[in-house]
Amino acid sequence: MNDTFLKACRGEKVDYTPVWMMRQAGRYLPEYQEVRSKLTFLELCKTPELAAEVTIQPIDILGVDAAILFSDILIPLEAMDLTLEFHEKIGPVFPDPVRDRQSVDRLIIPDPEEHLNFVLETIRILRRELAEKVPLIGFSGAPFTLATYLIEGGSSKFFFETKKMMFTAPDLYTSLMDKITECTSVYLKAQAAAGAQALQIFDSWAGVLAPGDFERYALPYVKTIIADLKETTDIPIIYFANNGATLLDQSKTSGADVLGLDWRVDIAKAVEQIGPDISVQGNLDPSALLLPEPQLRERVAKILAGAAKARGHICNLGHGIHQFTPPSQAKIFIDAVHELSGKSS
Ligand code: CP3
Repeated sequence: MNDTFLKACRGEKVDYTPVWMMRQAGRYLPEYQEVRSKLTFLELCKTPELAAEVTIQPIDILGVDAAILFSDILIPLEAMDLTLEFHEKIGPVFPDPVRDRQSVDRLIIPDPEEHLNFVLETIRILRRELAEKVPLIGFSGAPFTLATYLIEGGSSKFFFETKKMMFTAPDLYTSLMDKITECTSVYLKAQAAAGAQALQIFDSWAGVLAPGDFERYALPYVKTIIADLKETTDIPIIYFANNGATLLDQSKTSGADVLGLDWRVDIAKAVEQIGPDISVQGNLDPSALLLPEPQLRERVAKILAGAAKARGHICNLGHGIHQFTPPSQAKIFIDAVHELSGKSS
């Protein structure tokens, strides 16, 4: 198997730098659009054969070193007995936001085998179909990021309702976070048991918190999940706090094997700050994929050099690939990482 990705996660010696892209299965690929044209996004997530098919597309088309399960961080929240909708051009919507005691208390902790079996089935199909070609990454959202969607009722700009609950109803906030944390912990364990070979925890909105608030209201729940996972599995865990340059000192205590870095941070400085015990993942600005090839390659070279002193480095974008990126540019990025880090073809 191509286990370069897993080795880099663990800080073992590798022959070249492995690379994959956040949101690598998605709308920028015509092959994805083709599958997606026949059903809604949620239907696609819940049809294991098709979810597996779109997961594999970027492996074959771009030659990335890891596959990431096709699903969404909001899927387990729906299974907590909430209505989830995806609206064209708006994104995810929870029509009944969770803002009071009654709506927190009625949330269930889903049994993954029963309520999220389609995800586990997708993982099982993928392990068969990937045939050990590349490792499979499972994932979840981090509790704070998930809570923002529940409390705001969808995406948000100011996170006013979330912070209002945090600051004015701390007991309610804690109850909600405890439930989301338990749900996520059980869900990730089930993904590992079904065959996921690494797990990434996406904290997309961590960066809207002041460092002290991150430490108090978000990070403890991530630590609980990771500590819980470490009791039952030794697969690598990646923690990605988007916009988290100001949170690195705290994030490095999360217990994760790898920290994801967004593009706003200088990777060499981040590596120095994180130290020798944790690998790093990242961190090209997704928009930099639009640069002419020589400049794009220069940026890749700079990232590889910047990460040279890291325990391990998995090259990636600093956030998800944008839907209007030409796939040919993504291919230039993947090939550049491989060539410049010494992969023999
Ligand atoms: O990375 C991958 O390729 C795996 C699949 C994946 C998706 N979403 C597919 C998706 C993963 C890992 C996610 C995670 C996710 N989902 C996050 C965390 C990462 C991040 O971007 O910060 C978040 C915040 C979500 C919530 C979400 N899902 C939003 C806000 C949206 C709308 C985005 C938009 O641009 O419209 C989605 C929908 C979504 N998730 C799509 C895909 C491919 C587009 C759906 C479509 O086909 O219409």
